[in-house]
Amino acid sequence: MQTDLCKKLGIDFPIFAFTHCRDVVAAVTNAGGIGVLGAVGFRPEQLAIELDWIDEHVGDRPYGVDVIIPNKYQGQDEKDEEKLRTMISAAIPQGHRDFADELLDAHGVPRLNNEGKTTDRLSMTEATSAPLVDIALQHDNVKLIANALGTPPPEIIRQIQDSGRMVGALCGSPRHAKMHVDAGLDFIIAQGGEGGGHTGEIGSMVLWPEVVDVAGDIPVIAAGGIGSGRQMYAALAMGTQGVWCGSLWLTVAEAATTPIEKELLLAANSNETIRSASVTGKPVRMLKNAWTEAWDAGNNPQSLDAPMQMMAVGNAMKRMRRFPEQSRELMFVPVGQIVGRLNHVMNARDVVMQLVEEYLETSDRMNGLLPDVS
Ligand SMILES: Cc1cc2nc3c(=O)[nH]c(=O)nc-3n(C[C@H](O)[C@H](O)[C@H](O)COP(=O)(O)O)c2cc1C
Repeated sequence: MQTDLCKKLGIDFPIFAFTHCRDVVAAVTNAGGIGVLGAVGFRPEQLAIELDWIDEHVGDRPYGVDVIIPNKYQGQDEKDEEKLRTMISAAIPQGHRDFADELLDAHGVPRLNNEGKTTDRLSMTEATSAPLVDIALQHDNVKLIANALGTPPPEIIRQIQDSGRMVGALCGSPRHAKMHVDAGLDFIIAQGGEGGGHTGEIGSMVLWPEVVDVAGDIPVIAAGGIGSGRQMYAALAMGTQGVWCGSLWLTVAEAATTPIEKELLLAANSNETIRSASVTGKPVRMLKNAWTEAWDAGNNPQSLDAPMQMMAVGNAMKRMRRFPEQSRELMFVPVGQIVGRLNHVMNARDVVMQLVEEYLETSDRMNGLLPDVS
């Protein structure tokens, strides 16, 4: 399983752990895989604190950082964060804000004291992500930067490559993979539709070999639905050079997932997720619940585009975070179909070791299937 990509990054196992939690990044990196910190929710100054902490906990081992700059979003020509925020905030239909708040009222989620006084939060844009990349590049152990929802802008690709790091991006179709190839990215993450978070429609079994064929010499990492060594073996058998898992780390002991989120995740089955644009304006796979049903019902307001939808529901998200117990039936829990296998809490290191051991057992089993020609 020591793929060329492992050698290039100096890691023992081709296991990439996408997570928003620094403890998980450190645990997976120290176990021989590589943690990748999702930076979208951080302000630059917070990200610097998180990365300093990781640096202190991983010695000279490598890790990665992930940002979100979509190929297409409202106002993408505006690079000034404050101007873009003001412009989008002013254009949000009041009906959408009201619909989100009234949905929470109907479920008994209390209102916040400071309602209407906080400013809308902008994210998932070049204006908000470029400063995060700047911070990431100030940390020597950051060896890769990945982008979700599109090919990163050319100047960001150049900036990362000139600093000696690898830059890659997720894709959900061969067409997107081709755009990444043409832009000269160093690796591509092919994420099948069963994966958690923003995701396309094509399933991993179909997508991975398609992207491998489009990518040529560029290493492809498989994502979407991987939760066991058997799946990891299958992913490498299809020509990928590693596995990129997200959902798997949500229920590990080190994860910052809240107790109620963990409880919901541990109880959910594989058929209890849905792709819905109701939180970010782009389809995200998440737990199906009263929130997704309400937004996806025909006569209710339709989700706005990104990043406006996220701003329109920002207050509702804050309310749910503040009152989690009352928000069980509505809360945003992004996760993939592999949730059906997340049934008990383990340490991140043990999850890495379990993947490796099961991969090796599978390899033995597959070798045993070869005909005896002696
Ligand atoms: C809770 C959650 C949040 C995610 N957020 C991001 C993100 O900010 N950026 C990103 O590139 N991918 C994000 N993803 C997708 C992961 O990077 C990864 O591709 C996906 O989880 C793989 O499928 P799996 O969930 O079946 O392991 C997220 C996934 C989850 C589960």
